[in-house]
Amino acid sequence: MNHIKLDLSAVEQFLNQDAVKSLQAQSVVARRSLEDGTCAGNDFLGWLHLPSSITPEILADLQSTADILRQECDTVVVAGIGGSYLGARAVIEALNDSFSWLRKEHNGPTVLFAGNNISEDYLAELTDLLKDQRFGVINISKSGTTTETALAFRLLKKQCEEQRGKEEARRVIVAITDAKRGAARITADKEGYKSFVIPDNVGGRFSVLTPVGLLPIAVAGFDIAALIQGAQEMERATAADIPYEDNLAMRYATTRNALYLAGKKIEIMANFQPKLHYIAEWWKQLYGESEGKQGKGIFPASVDLTTDLHSMGQWIQDGERTIFETVLSIEQPEKTLLFPHDEENLDGLNFLEGRRVDQVNKMAEFGTRLAHIDGGVPNIRIILPRLDAFTLGELIYFFEIGCGISGLLLGVNPFDQPGVEAYKKNMFALLGKPGYEADGEALRKRIQA
Ligand code: PA5
Repeated sequence: MNHIKLDLSAVEQFLNQDAVKSLQAQSVVARRSLEDGTCAGNDFLGWLHLPSSITPEILADLQSTADILRQECDTVVVAGIGGSYLGARAVIEALNDSFSWLRKEHNGPTVLFAGNNISEDYLAELTDLLKDQRFGVINISKSGTTTETALAFRLLKKQCEEQRGKEEARRVIVAITDAKRGAARITADKEGYKSFVIPDNVGGRFSVLTPVGLLPIAVAGFDIAALIQGAQEMERATAADIPYEDNLAMRYATTRNALYLAGKKIEIMANFQPKLHYIAEWWKQLYGESEGKQGKGIFPASVDLTTDLHSMGQWIQDGERTIFETVLSIEQPEKTLLFPHDEENLDGLNFLEGRRVDQVNKMAEFGTRLAHIDGGVPNIRIILPRLDAFTLGELIYFFEIGCGISGLLLGVNPFDQPGVEAYKKNMFALLGKPGYEADGEALRKRIQA
């Protein structure tokens, strides 16, 4: 079995080796403190051993629920935001055929996402699309009170009941929420929906390997057992007793913190495979929400290449030298396509005739990497043997454990997100939500000014 590899060869030249050595030692301590539960945020470490603790019974329950939705729905809408949708979307888009929903032979329901914005157009177009469709809903909210998700769920529940009748709707609405608290739990219990629990000690952005991610992924038809096996493999490979030199997570966390200390304040996640777009979105939340606090933190950004070389390429090559790049590099594509011959050869590309398109893409990747390194951009390369469920399981756990260690090296609590509340308070005050009216007037004046 091939595993994820980490190539740090294009980073060393940018780093002070004394700083790296000191951070190496700290990363071993940080990893140990996660294991012992002595670190900051230690009431949110439920994700640490999720892969090795998930039982065949839980997987079977998730799969049989997914099978019901697959049989009884043409479309399943996942309502959730942030950690309650990004992981599922990332895995589904990475594994899906790029045009799956347009294919006639499409097998199983189309999985759509809602509850991650408050756009009237988006919701009106979605509800219009779902008219006369046999659709189901997975309502995901740990708190059960998130406005975006609650609004989408209100609309979808009503429409599902109107179209299918209350009894049948009950079979195709599933809740994933807190065991006891919140509107989503109360509704699920009252209506008799099938439900799954988000453990108290697992924060949203670390919840992809709970039912939050696993149920939508299974509904989309992907192998959740293989995903978990990959995560288990990475759990073993990044354990506290695995030495630094062999421990991918410690090395990644150390390297990015050493780069941060060297003035590289922005990490750009780059891919050469558009299916990885949402992996980067998930990663941005994981690292951004975990580290961006107390006036500190690497800013996580992302680009899809080669697409964005034609928009962001100039900045990366030549802009302020405060960035480093982390490339997600896939060794083996799933499909085969050869560069075609053209009689006229007006574009001058016949020299590529008969070569794999992936070979061209790889040379674009290597060429870009070298150009950026020459331009003063340190480069981390994460090599994925292929894009399958097992490898994605490895990748997810690698980023999670790397994030825990990295946040601790930075000196923050990686498992809270106090800053996320600020916009909610203002929005509720402006909307006149009971209990929030006091600040409303002052905020309205500031908007008008
Ligand atoms: O990581 C987090 O905690 C957040 O992104 C939440 O997942 C997000 O705000 C959604 O919250 P909830 O699941 O309570 O609706």
